[in-house]
Amino acid sequence: MVNVRKCAIIGCGFVGAASAFSLMQSGLFSELVLIDANRDKAEGEAMDLSHGAPFARPIEISAGAYDDIADCGLIVVTAGANQKPGETRLDLVNKNVGIFKQIIPEIKKRQCEGILLVVSNPVDILTYTALKLSGFPPSRVIGSGTVLDTARLKYLLGQRLGVDSRSVHAYIIGEHGDSELAVWSSANVSGVELYRFCELCGHFEHEQNMQKLYEDVRDSAYEIIQKKGATYYGIAMAVRRIAECIMRDERSILPVSSLIEGYYGLNGICMGIPTIVGSEGVEKVVDVGLSGDEQLKLLKSAESLKKVLDTLDL
Ligand code: NAD
Ligand code: LAC
Repeated sequence: MVNVRKCAIIGCGFVGAASAFSLMQSGLFSELVLIDANRDKAEGEAMDLSHGAPFARPIEISAGAYDDIADCGLIVVTAGANQKPGETRLDLVNKNVGIFKQIIPEIKKRQCEGILLVVSNPVDILTYTALKLSGFPPSRVIGSGTVLDTARLKYLLGQRLGVDSRSVHAYIIGEHGDSELAVWSSANVSGVELYRFCELCGHFEHEQNMQKLYEDVRDSAYEIIQKKGATYYGIAMAVRRIAECIMRDERSILPVSSLIEGYYGLNGICMGIPTIVGSEGVEKVVDVGLSGDEQLKLLKSAESLKKVLDTLDL
């Protein structure tokens, strides 16, 4: 039996703790179970968060073990090494696949029927790993994909154009990492084609400006890690947004990572593509329409993920 109001977070480091904080404040769940290889860390976070209970909607937060998550509606996995300055996300693959080989079989053993949300990096590779090792149907294995990168893009465009970032509609897709790409061909500001809106704001050097914006988005995690050691608030809010879509059966479109089958000829990988997300998890991967150049970049991004997947024994 699934208790949809119960959520587990596995991994209580920067990202797990910040996600717990954002989920606690969301009011979406009535129970939150925290698990970490370092039990004290999970207990400390549970205590600290629980002391905010009088300021939040009723929620029980505890440190737990795998037996406690069998009935969870949502299981968020944030366990694993993060990048050190100069490291890429893909550099984490061996360490974190090793950690997933410990965690996912524990989830599988409990015959959980909830939705698995993978956040650890490299997120696309680990989403695929979780899918293979859990035996869950593909609709119930979601990675945070390029939801955070897309938020970064909307934020920067909003700043540049002097408009609410929620009115900006544009996607980063592909790998959550160095080979990701921006989909400019369908980007718009509340229905006004992006380049036209830029011109209305006095910006005319589209190609040059968009390339710079894309690079700022792609490299922003490197910059934050250089400055403060890790990223966690942005992703924690992305986790909350994905959880909201699931819990409220919103069927909103988010560029989460999930198994891709037959999208522009791609098969057997997970990566961030606009997807309808609802109570069943992945409802439908959506073709937003890509230009020829965008298609080529997407294939290249998929190739770089495939190369890594081919080295793994799953
Ligand atoms: P962290 O080092 O602060 O925390 C990792 C936690 O995982 C630690 O508390 C550790 O004890 C725990 N852990 C390790 N092995 C475990 C196991 N077998 N079982 C349970 N817990 C285990 O790292 P962080 O900054 O919180 O980052 C976590 C992951 O999230 C990293 O892989 C990072 O790259 C990734 N991340 C992803 C995104 C995204 O957009 N998808 C954004 C930010 C960070
Ligand atoms: C991010 C992490 C590091 O903030 O993947 O993009």
